[in-house]
Amino acid sequence: MIDKYKRSIDYARISVIDKCNLNCIYCTTKENINFSPERGTISDSEIIILCKALSQLGIKNIKITGGEPLIRNGIVDLIANIKNIDGIENITLTTNGIILDKYIASLKKAGLDSMNISLDALDNDLFKSITGHNKINELLKNIEMALEYNFSSIKINCVLLNDLNHSEYVNIASLAKHKNIFVRFIEVMPIGEGKSQGFISSEMIKIELEKEFGKFEGTTRTLGNGPALYYNVANFIGKIGFISAISNQFCHKCNRIRITSDGSIKNCLYYKKNASIKHLLNEENFKELKETLYDIVYEKEKSHDFDNTNESRNADMENMSDIGG
Ligand code: GTP
Ligand code: 5AD
Repeated sequence: MIDKYKRSIDYARISVIDKCNLNCIYCTTKENINFSPERGTISDSEIIILCKALSQLGIKNIKITGGEPLIRNGIVDLIANIKNIDGIENITLTTNGIILDKYIASLKKAGLDSMNISLDALDNDLFKSITGHNKINELLKNIEMALEYNFSSIKINCVLLNDLNHSEYVNIASLAKHKNIFVRFIEVMPIGEGKSQGFISSEMIKIELEKEFGKFEGTTRTLGNGPALYYNVANFIGKIGFISAISNQFCHKCNRIRITSDGSIKNCLYYKKNASIKHLLNEENFKELKETLYDIVYEKEKSHDFDNTNESRNADMENMSDIGG
């Protein structure tokens, strides 16, 4: 699909559940602990119909997100069934990794291509204060395990929470030194609880990391479908990447749309949901579904507007756990 700014849209992010087994301070709110009812969540068959329509419209890459997608019942079969759809070339997952060990072998078998795993701190106490859970050891074991399964890539997502986890960036970056892993530092976006976090730009962190590891060279964006910019680092097996949504807006290259777990479409992370398409996710309405998707994508917003305080345009009531990142 091509939008009115002539961007080619070939990547859909589908949030399959808004529940999570962690409670990260920048992602969900306490009020959000009573997550939206299961009843409103899109079913497996609705997701398959959606993906068939998307693939017929030119979407080749699907990202499964949450909440935490691995806590959705039947997630492995769902991934296998999406991967089998004609035209879907890549299916990838963004997870907090806590229960990955239970699923990893079957995810590989299901055809999952690659995985992104959140990791905002290595220190046990800090990890607990950010996520609300004492699970860093499980997570580190699961990252090790993921590296053994020959996925096309394993990426780490570290959100830059400034003072809160600043002490961790060098150690987290070091994970890419001895392993074929891509560590990405992500500028915190002012969405939901993300608004209460201190901001630090990825450029500042790049400068600090270069002091430690030497100059970063040779950028590439092509290690996935997302907005990260990656660098080579001398003596590193992996790479270091940055997602600089605030300091270095990448919207002119945006290639993606989002579908939330309640069956709504969001053509920009920043703006409110465009419409619910849940009633169209069935065989009878397939033609209308495709037309609706096409029309909403065509009208995709030019760019986010995080600097603007015009609250009515901002998806102000949402948290990242509702959107899926
Ligand atoms: P791959 O590189 O293909 O794995 O995709 P990705 O990096 O987009 O996936 P992931 O789910 O790991 O997202 C990483 C971060 O990028 C999250 O914080 C997302 O919110 C952010 N992100 C992804 N797409 C967009 C976008 O369109 N706009 C903005 N502002 N941020 C985005
Ligand atoms: N800003 C930037 N990234 C965020 N994520 C969640 N909330 C935010 C935010 N406010 C990240 C998670 C996860 C990915 C899908 O999005 O850490 O890795």
